[in-house]
This record gives sequence, C-alpha cells and structure tokens, in this order.
Amino acid sequence: MARITGRTVLIVGASSGIGAEVARQLAGGGNRFVITARRAAELAAVAAEIRAAGSVCLDLPADALDPTAAAGVVAAAVTEYGSVDIALLNAGQGPDMSMDRVGVADVSRIMALNYDVAVNYLVPLIAQLRGQAGGGLIAHTNSLAGLMGVPRQGPYSAAKAAVRTLLDTARVELAPHGVRFTSIHPGFVATERVGGDGLPKPFQISQERAARHVVRALEREPAQACFPRPAAALVRTLRALPAPVSDAVLRRLAAGL
Ligand SMILES: NC(=O)c1ccc[n+]([C@@H]2O[C@H](COP(=O)([O-])OP(=O)(O)OC[C@H]3O[C@@H](n4cnc5c(N)ncnc54)[C@H](OP(=O)(O)O)[C@@H]3O)[C@@H](O)[C@H]2O)c1
Repeated sequence: MARITGRTVLIVGASSGIGAEVARQLAGGGNRFVITARRAAELAAVAAEIRAAGSVCLDLPADALDPTAAAGVVAAAVTEYGSVDIALLNAGQGPDMSMDRVGVADVSRIMALNYDVAVNYLVPLIAQLRGQAGGGLIAHTNSLAGLMGVPRQGPYSAAKAAVRTLLDTARVELAPHGVRFTSIHPGFVATERVGGDGLPKPFQISQERAARHVVRALEREPAQACFPRPAAALVRTLRALPAPVSDAVLRRLAAGL
C-alpha cells in the first residue's frame, strides 16, 4: 500500500503504460485524481478503474503539445479540488531513430513529443504550486536515456536530457516556495507501445514493477530516481569510462550484443 494518501494527483499521460499503472497503484487511500492524455476512450477506462478503487477522478482528454489545453487541465484540476499536490508529467515516446537516417523534422518532432509536452505543463504547474499552501511535487518520467546519448535513441535522449536540466534548475529556484522536483529515470519497460519496436532492451522490467518504482519516487521525492538497479549501474559506469570504451560498449548493446 502506497503511503501517499489524501492527495490530489495529476497524471499527464495516464491512458496506458506506466502512467495508467501508477494511477491504479495510487487509487484509493483518499487520493483524488486528474488524469489526461489524448485517447479519450482509453483514459475513461483508466478513470473507471480508479473510481472502482474508491477515488474520485476527473478524466480530461487533452493534447500536451497544446499549451492552452495544458493550462486548461491544470486550471480544471484546481477548480475541482482546490490544489494539485503531486503532478506526474509522464507523456513521451522514443521511437527507434538513428542519426544517419533522420531528417531535421524528425528530430524536432521527437523534441516536441518529449520536451514541449513537459514544458507546457511545467509552467502553469509552477505558477499554481508556488502559490498554494505547502507547495507541491512535480515529477517527470524521464529515462536512463536522458542521462547519456543512447544509440538509435539520440533525439529522444537529447529531449529527455533537456527536461532533466530544466527540472534541475527549477528545483534550486523554487525550493524556497515549497515546490519540489523529481526526475524519474526508468530503464527499458515492457509497455504495449514499445513492444515490437525492434530495439534491444537489456534489463527490461514489467510495467507493474516500473510503476512501483515511480510510486516510491513520488513518496520519497529524491532529486533523481534511476531503476532498475543493474541498468542504472551500467549507465553510471558507462558515463565514468573513457569515451572510446563506452562508445564500443554502446555500439555492441545497440546491435543486440
Ligand atoms: N517503456 C519504456 O521502455 C520507457 C523507458 C523509459 C522511459 N519511458 C517513458 O515513460 C513514459 C511513459 O511511457 P510508456 O512506455 O508507458 O508508453 P505509453 O503507454 O505510450 O504512455 C505514454 C502516455 O503519454 C500519453 N501521451 C503521449 N503524447 C501525449 C500528448 N501529446 N498529449 C497527451 N498525452 C500524451 C499517452 O497517451 P495518448 O496516446 O492517449 O495521448 C500515454 O498515456 C514516457 O515519457 C516514456 O518516454 C518509457
């Protein structure tokens, strides 16, 4: 049972995968939910599960690429429940994309799908949380790929790294106002969307296990949460190694060993 109780939780990207599973694991315990994503039917199905577990839930279909829509979701959450205690910015996607085959537009699209979707919520959430009693937590589902340039995921790695940097700055600036920030860095997770995308996935974990790690991060609020342990250790080691050595290891990993 999660220790998060009696809180208003906003999850952006809750219609499937990790975000939907985090909502399920936090449901009950007096928590109130606002969940959003683009696919209305999938979102409504997750909302029904949350309500069946005893929580109130507002499901608001919206595209996080639209800053006005994102601000509207935050405003609707505040109108309904009075505050947002925990926001999990979870929208994103990282398709197989090698730098020798991409166009400029592909890179820009991946940047928008992973960076803009976070920024469009980050700005209105900071404005809301810094003004409410007790502040609040803004967490972002990043990736271990946001800690280093991963082959076949370059634009995704770059976009996630950009969000991490932004959150690092915001954590320092907003601490006096009680607004806390957590970057969550999963390794490979077996969600429906990434199944069959052809990428090798060392140390892949289940969606349920990944969500448990996310819930723990929301409870403990570290600056950075990296999992699973073997994949996080591999990334730490690769970052410490001289570039020719880490490059050779990454090349072999990308080729499926
Ligand atoms: N699976 C992995 O191996 C893995 C590893 C590391 C990090 N991550 C990160 O974990 C997060 C969740 O991924 P997942 O694997 O659980 O995949 P997923 O099932 O596709 O989840 C992504 C969620 O974000 C929503 N979303 C995407 N773009 C959106 C937009 N423009 N506006 C609103 N909602 C949007 C999707 O819903 P709609 O399509 O209905 O909008 C969905 O609910 C992502 O940020 C991903 O980068 C995943």
